[in-house]
Amino acid sequence: MSDKTSRISGFYKLSLEERLKIVSEFANLTEEEVMILKKIGNLDLSTADRMIENVIGTMAYPFAIAVNFMINGKDKLIPMVIEEPSVVAAASNAAKWARAKGGIFTSSTGPIMIGQIQLTHIKDPWGTKLKILEHKSELIRIANEQDPTLVSLGGGAKDIEVRIIDTLRGPMVITHVIVDVRDAMGANAVNTMAEAIAPYLEDISGGRVLLRIISNLADRRLVRARTIIDKNEIGGEDVVDRIVDAWAFASADPYRAATHNKGIMNGVIAVALATAQDHRAIEAGAHAYASRFGRYSPLSVWEKNEEGDLVGSLEMPMAVGLVGGAVKTHPVARIALKILDVKTADELGEVMGAVGLIQNLAALKALATEGIQRGHMKLHARNIAIMAGATPDIVDKAVEIMVKEGKIRFDRAKEIVEELKKQKQ
Ligand code: MEV
Repeated sequence: MSDKTSRISGFYKLSLEERLKIVSEFANLTEEEVMILKKIGNLDLSTADRMIENVIGTMAYPFAIAVNFMINGKDKLIPMVIEEPSVVAAASNAAKWARAKGGIFTSSTGPIMIGQIQLTHIKDPWGTKLKILEHKSELIRIANEQDPTLVSLGGGAKDIEVRIIDTLRGPMVITHVIVDVRDAMGANAVNTMAEAIAPYLEDISGGRVLLRIISNLADRRLVRARTIIDKNEIGGEDVVDRIVDAWAFASADPYRAATHNKGIMNGVIAVALATAQDHRAIEAGAHAYASRFGRYSPLSVWEKNEEGDLVGSLEMPMAVGLVGGAVKTHPVARIALKILDVKTADELGEVMGAVGLIQNLAALKALATEGIQRGHMKLHARNIAIMAGATPDIVDKAVEIMVKEGKIRFDRAKEIVEELKKQKQ
């Protein structure tokens, strides 16, 4: 049995240095590895230590900019944080195709989130439902007392809805508090309101309140994005048909729809990370919304119009915020928002929807024509060639040879680089 234990009481109370010491002993980290963890990037350690618990360092990811985006007639630079190669290049490329017909156009429903309060042990759910609804204005008033600032900004609880659901433990009465959260992601405001009205719901119903929590199926907070892609931008009407067929595959088959939507989320989550959003909430909402018809479906639609051009549209929940949480504390997120030049959470959500749609287009175009591996291989070859010593004047040629030969290996790259360098002399 190992003498190591992960049972460490009070780990959270230790200083960052002390925590790091414990971890480095536990995992036999070298001095160099400890130095890497300690390295301060653009998130200083004391801010990181305040953001979450048990911090021992920070971890940097590439922060990149997708270019060529035109959204609602305005040029936009899109900050993206992602570990996967090709995503940013693909988004920039596909955004360029969209420009010929005006770019991407967006709209949204407004920042409406739902809080759920679960009531169990109710014998007469239908009667209870109406009883709760009789107290609607009182419940809304109590909810709004929790957040006068939100109310002063025009937000706050707007409605109460009651659903009866059948569960394996019998019928339950689920009250929804419908909240306009303005520029917040909304979890804090909504959870506080749900907890505040819960005791009143118990009094009204005689039942027992269990969960009081936001729903991440944010189907009242949808963003919409659409674009028209001139057929000549993507290789003609045949390519348009291929892309529409690729979409039809996703719309008929959940196995494909999951990957189709993954391509959308490549774009959405990269912007979410750059702007320090709760990306798990966005993912949860997206996939729950994609299943709303009882079968998991694509979040986008691709069609061919009268002129033979490609028409893309996307609708998905987007719970994002500009105030509160890491958005405020992470300095890079602030800069990302400045680059995006968005003034409201709705605007940010719409940009993210636009990026998702364009990312999806880039993937479908590649998949429906040459396949995605060629592009990936090129990038891979480039990295290998640089590692093998290719200088900027020969790197393109080296990549070309490696891709043509289909041999993307370090040993071959070294030979090619040496040969090209000799030729240059
Ligand atoms: C890879 O990260 C994303 C794709 O698989 C998306 C898709 O298949 O549509 C290329």
